[in-house]
Amino acid sequence: MKAKVLVTGGTGYIGSHTIIDLIESGYDVICADNGINSDRSSLIAVKEITGVSVPYFHVDLCDKNASEAIFMQHPDISGVIHFAALKAVGESVEKPVLYFRNNLESLINVIDLSIKYNVKSFIFSSSCTVYGDVTQSPVDESTPLMEAASPYGRTKQVGEQIIMDCMKNSDTKSILLRYFNPAGAHPSGLLGESPSNPPQNLVPVITETAIGKRNKMTVFGNDYPTRDGSCIRDYIHVCDLARAHTLALQYVFDGKQNIQTEVFNIGIGNGLTVLEIIKAFEKVSGVALQYEIGGRRAGDIMAIFSDHTKAKQLLGWEPKYGVDDIMSTAWTWEKNRSK
Ligand SMILES: NC(=O)c1ccc[n+]([C@@H]2O[C@H](COP(=O)([O-])OP(=O)(O)OC[C@H]3O[C@@H](n4cnc5c(N)ncnc54)[C@H](O)[C@@H]3O)[C@@H](O)[C@H]2O)c1
Repeated sequence: MKAKVLVTGGTGYIGSHTIIDLIESGYDVICADNGINSDRSSLIAVKEITGVSVPYFHVDLCDKNASEAIFMQHPDISGVIHFAALKAVGESVEKPVLYFRNNLESLINVIDLSIKYNVKSFIFSSSCTVYGDVTQSPVDESTPLMEAASPYGRTKQVGEQIIMDCMKNSDTKSILLRYFNPAGAHPSGLLGESPSNPPQNLVPVITETAIGKRNKMTVFGNDYPTRDGSCIRDYIHVCDLARAHTLALQYVFDGKQNIQTEVFNIGIGNGLTVLEIIKAFEKVSGVALQYEIGGRRAGDIMAIFSDHTKAKQLLGWEPKYGVDDIMSTAWTWEKNRSK
């Protein structure tokens, strides 16, 4: 029998790509989302790509009773991948209460239910933001966590702690995946990032500018002490990231995890500046991007990129896609969704 996996935040960007990887790896998937930053069109794309119609629960995971109804209907859920969260760093600076309430209440409910319904494997969407304003990169999982640079980052730091405390004496094993900067789209051109709120991440802002949805874009700061003055990040293709979730689940199901909570960095392993990313896009698309240099943005740190040796060694995970693939798939997706 196929193992059943609940994907929360599953109509969102990373969740929907992960659902495809799970289905292609033989899992039975159900999805829960409240549509605050996505809609069900991503599940239509999932069906086109995989042929599978994924059961969908329209639920605010801050509502414990509504969330429990999913587990009551599917008491055989053996894995949970918890993506559901608000994720805009800038918005979290303006609305910290919204971020703490939404991201932590939903997390606590999903943990509580996972333990109650004997879920074996719980995977959490953490983020490199937990490392805070680091002074050196690459960072590995033993790099000490600094003060979070935003309330969003703090929801991930606190979320990790809550998971470790709650899972300690339970039968549920958890994995914290610290993503770096997910970007790109499914190679089919049928699925990609399609947020309900205006995107703040660099790559969708670039493609929206290139297609004319925005007149021009802003590079936030060119006075950082980096090679060209703009911030450095580690861009990881969303399909590589999706794969890491399936491997993490499998790691627990195969009995390979000996401790209650394990942590992995999921990034490409080197850094590119914002201006280098813009150039990479221009090269792949042939479009000259309209951009201006603005001031630094609240909550942004200068530079961070990953050491992903641990994920490679223990999960057998390795990124397959590079920056050109990120740009070409993101650009194809933008052109398709704008039709
Ligand atoms: N995209 C990134 O740059 C990035 C980087 C690091 C970590 N993450 C984390 O990965 C996860 C997924 O990110 P994404 O890029 O796919 O974002 P996304 O906004 O596309 O997906 C998140 C989904 O969660 C849903 N959601 C939010 N609050 C909910 C609630 N209370 N109940 C039910 N559904 C709710 C939203 O509607 C959305 O579909 C998030 O936890 C995010 O913090 C994202």
